[in-house]
Amino acid sequence: MPKTRIGLIGYGGIGRVHAAAYRAIPFHYGLPAESIEIAGVATTRRETAASAAAEIGCGFFTDDYRELLARSDIDAVDICTPNNSHREIALAAAAAGKHVYCEKPLAMNALEAESMAQAVDAAGLKAQVTFNFRFFPAVMRARQLIDEGFLGRIFSFRGRYQRSSYIDRDKPMSWRLQRAHTGGGALFDLGSHILDLLYFVLGEFAAVHGTLDTLIKERPRALGSAEMALVDVDDIALLHARLGDGTLGTVEISRMGTGATNDLTFEVFGERGAMRFDLSDPAWLHVYDARDVDSPLGGERGFRKIEAVSRYAGQRAPDWTMTPDFMRTHAECQYQFVRSIWNDSAPSPSFADGAHIQKIMAGAERSSAKGGWVSLSDV
Ligand SMILES: NC(=O)c1ccc[n+]([C@@H]2O[C@H](COP(=O)([O-])OP(=O)(O)OC[C@H]3O[C@@H](n4cnc5c(N)ncnc54)[C@H](O)[C@@H]3O)[C@@H](O)[C@H]2O)c1
Repeated sequence: MPKTRIGLIGYGGIGRVHAAAYRAIPFHYGLPAESIEIAGVATTRRETAASAAAEIGCGFFTDDYRELLARSDIDAVDICTPNNSHREIALAAAAAGKHVYCEKPLAMNALEAESMAQAVDAAGLKAQVTFNFRFFPAVMRARQLIDEGFLGRIFSFRGRYQRSSYIDRDKPMSWRLQRAHTGGGALFDLGSHILDLLYFVLGEFAAVHGTLDTLIKERPRALGSAEMALVDVDDIALLHARLGDGTLGTVEISRMGTGATNDLTFEVFGERGAMRFDLSDPAWLHVYDARDVDSPLGGERGFRKIEAVSRYAGQRAPDWTMTPDFMRTHAECQYQFVRSIWNDSAPSPSFADGAHIQKIMAGAERSSAKGGWVSLSDV
């Protein structure tokens, strides 16, 4: 029976989600519990590493991730740290011969991302980016239908990821608001997700025109502090984009979407039909078939819901009728990564995919700074 032992690096908001999702995989797929094991955890402080290990139930913890890399009982590392450490840790992991699973955005910029993709390829290791939203069956069905030509020629697309997470001007400074730690703002944090979904269902981007802005330019250095610190990343990013085949679309990204909780949607419009996905109703892919008869009184034409729900191939529990959620997409993304190790197959989304998203974001930043369209071949 294949077995993968993971070293988890970083145990903040998403590290905890990853730990819970690994544990769920054997239950989803009827596997022995020990087929996926978190063998050790690293954070920046011994106290937090110790409490993480207690929560996870793993025997090893450290405040130096290199100690995880030196262990022979660890096959792969999972990087759940702020963006400015992804490259250093991934390169060290590749040098130590560990497979790498890394949170999004892959890196601080396109060059870093490409160097990471090259390092894991050169070492012959499996490496995957956590673009978890791809793993809703409705999103996977969208990709299949487009590949099968359901939409015919695609006229245009529209993506949107809005949250209201930064509308409170008293929300203090954090690593997510500092370029040196994060590489970019809402564009990197939220934009990487929606750009990946559009890339996954539609294909490579060729050019981008972006306008980025920072609506709240300074924030308290700490909660309740009168001392202010400069925000040097965007909190809103509006993009026009062209795909490799010339298709035009728009992408709207914001942390300042008052009233939005976690509002991610995409729509694709084609000559034979259209489709919509909405993260707040993720069981369904909404599709419109322009070939349906429209008379009398509209005939049978109109959007209908495809019953994608939880149809994960081979899933034992829960049954397919249960609505999938954020945790389930993380478990599925991780499951595909460990299966790529077990089956010696290509992991997806790969680091090269992560590097493509990084190029789109770099193009949008350059366009916003200098004006005009930026071809991704120049990034
Ligand atoms: N895919 C998703 O759904 C999703 C959601 C949230 C965050 N993320 C991504 O996950 C990453 C982490 O975000 P977060 O919200 O969990 O951050 P966080 O600030 O809550 O946690 C960061 C963790 O990393 C640890 N850390 C920092 N530097 C380290 C180092 N050098 N070695 C070991 N540990 C280190 C910290 O101790 C902490 O445990 C980011 O890249 C973010 O973009 C992805």
